[in-house]
Amino acid sequence: MSIFKDGILDGKVAFVTGGGSGICKGITRAFMAHGANAAIVGRNAERLGAAAAELERETGRECLAAPADVRNPKLVEAALDATIERFGTIDIVVNGAAGNFLCPAATLSYNGFKTVMDIDAIGTWNVTRAAFERRLRDHGGVVLNISATLHYSATPLQAHASAAKAAIDSLTRSLALEWGSLGIRVNGIAPGPIEGTEGMERLAPPNHKDKLA
Ligand code: COA
Ligand code: NAP
Repeated sequence: MSIFKDGILDGKVAFVTGGGSGICKGITRAFMAHGANAAIVGRNAERLGAAAAELERETGRECLAAPADVRNPKLVEAALDATIERFGTIDIVVNGAAGNFLCPAATLSYNGFKTVMDIDAIGTWNVTRAAFERRLRDHGGVVLNISATLHYSATPLQAHASAAKAAIDSLTRSLALEWGSLGIRVNGIAPGPIEGTEGMERLAPPNHKDKLA
């Protein structure tokens, strides 16, 4: 049961990072159930292939597994090119790829902080910039950045992810302003805690309050 008109995304193509699991797999499923074809991106090619096959079975639409690490612009470009080669276009880009773990700022390493910034914030930029160049600048489209609410006030053990999601929100506003006149709609979604996801398993384990001590 959907509140949207049947086939509202017929003919559209979505490129979804993090689409092989969790929230972004759910987003991809919803897009495909409403008519879109999709490409899903992640590092684990095996899990991605299984997810693509499952989504195709469930929705009757086509799903390309396009493995890439969003930290690597060349791999991102190759995944976008493979998507355009397969489907002819990209109309919707979802930046959902993310990495996170609980860690006190007092013990977080240089590389721990950088890794989360690289995946979440720089990864979002890499994908969006390359999609702009290939398709969005001349054809318009939609960019949907998946953020969080961690940084609205302050969340313990989450200095790294809070900084990364704040950067994503800032990028969402800047690009919406700069690219709106080109017919590119840039929006953000900040989910609350979603049960049954990797994010929740990592961030709300039964003993997480012990780490604050
Ligand atoms: N606590 C503290 N530091 C951690 C950590 C943890 N639980 N997990 C990783 N790190 C640190 C590592 O020690 C390393 O820093 P160092 O070189 O100073 O030791 C740095 O982060 C990079 O770790 P590495 O395992 O090499 O990174 P990766 O690129 O292979 O994986 C992660 C990225 C760490 C974010 C990994 O958890 C991941 O792939 N996550 C994806 C799924 C996910 O997080 N889903 C939830 C989304 S909300
Ligand atoms: P998830 O299933 O772990 O999703 C993260 C996805 O990102 C995975 O498919 C992972 O695939 C991919 N990914 C990670 N690093 C990558 C990289 N370097 N390159 C390419 N892909 C990469 O987690 P989730 O909980 O559903 O979270 C999805 C999104 O919602 C994230 O942006 C998260 O911050 C946000 N969010 C979640 C919650 C929640 O309650 N779960 C709350 C607020 C916000 P690979 O491992 O195969 O690369």
